[in-house]
Amino acid sequence: MTKDNDPFDLSSVNDEDGWVPPGVNTSIPHSARMYDWWLGGKDNYASDRELGETFLQAIPSIKTMAKANRAFLRRTVDHLAREAGIRQFLDIGTGIPTEGNVHEIAQAVAPECRVVYVDNDPIVLVHARALMSSSSEGTTAYIDADVRCPERILNHPALARTLDLNQPVALTLIAILMLLEDDEDPWQVTRTLMDALPSGSYLVISHPGRDFDPQAMAAVETAAHRAGMVLSTRTRQDVERFFGDWRMVEPGVVPVTEWRPSGEPTSSTDPAYYWGGLARKD
Ligand SMILES: C[S@@+](CC[C@H](N)C(=O)[O-])C[C@H]1O[C@@H](n2cnc3c(N)ncnc32)[C@H](O)[C@@H]1O
Repeated sequence: MTKDNDPFDLSSVNDEDGWVPPGVNTSIPHSARMYDWWLGGKDNYASDRELGETFLQAIPSIKTMAKANRAFLRRTVDHLAREAGIRQFLDIGTGIPTEGNVHEIAQAVAPECRVVYVDNDPIVLVHARALMSSSSEGTTAYIDADVRCPERILNHPALARTLDLNQPVALTLIAILMLLEDDEDPWQVTRTLMDALPSGSYLVISHPGRDFDPQAMAAVETAAHRAGMVLSTRTRQDVERFFGDWRMVEPGVVPVTEWRPSGEPTSSTDPAYYWGGLARKD
């Protein structure tokens, strides 16, 4: 099979003179690839780095912020597997694989954990094979789908094969909901996913907070829109609304660095600019 017809071919994704995965428009910046650049990855193009640099001008700690968000993901997934006994995860807006993917964190605690990854970026699809390197006791699956069509995700055969929706599931929406406009009603999208899960399930969200620095956030929103990318930063109250009537786990919706910090270097004193929280369906 050649890279032309192998959707999982990993070679030369980021070779500026080389192959570009089918479906990728390198002239328009993309959230997954900008985020990859901030995290020090190599799966990004000039347009991603250019807008990423503009964001960096407005928010000098943006790279720390991306790392703090990843650290929040690690701590919440570890908490869910270790303290809450969760064995099933639905991770939507997975991103380009990096150190500490959801299944690696969860399966390090309980190798039998089952994880469904969902993303709609062709570059993430190219890397999906790395996300499917499950432990032999557990399993992982990848669904190429848009969160704006939650029913498609919920009715996907790969989800039915991997997760038992009669047993608790942790739904992780980490740094994705800001990529939906208010008029796409990300609250209803989230509610549709939540309603499909049984009691004992959990929801984890992180989201850039407008209220941390309204001026800087307005500047990055404007830059994103000019570049053809959706970005909706939101207030703490807006983020709390995502959790609806589920019971917030302590400490509630807080800057991600303050969500049960573990003392690792990325839980630093730099401003995080991301709200994060975890709630349980009783
Ligand atoms: C900023 S990255 C976050 C990655 C990871 N969750 C993390 O926090 O490290 C956002 C991810 O959401 C994905 N995404 C954006 N819009 C999406 C949509 N409508 N449906 C599914 N995935 C989407 C992007 O492709 C990207 O991989």
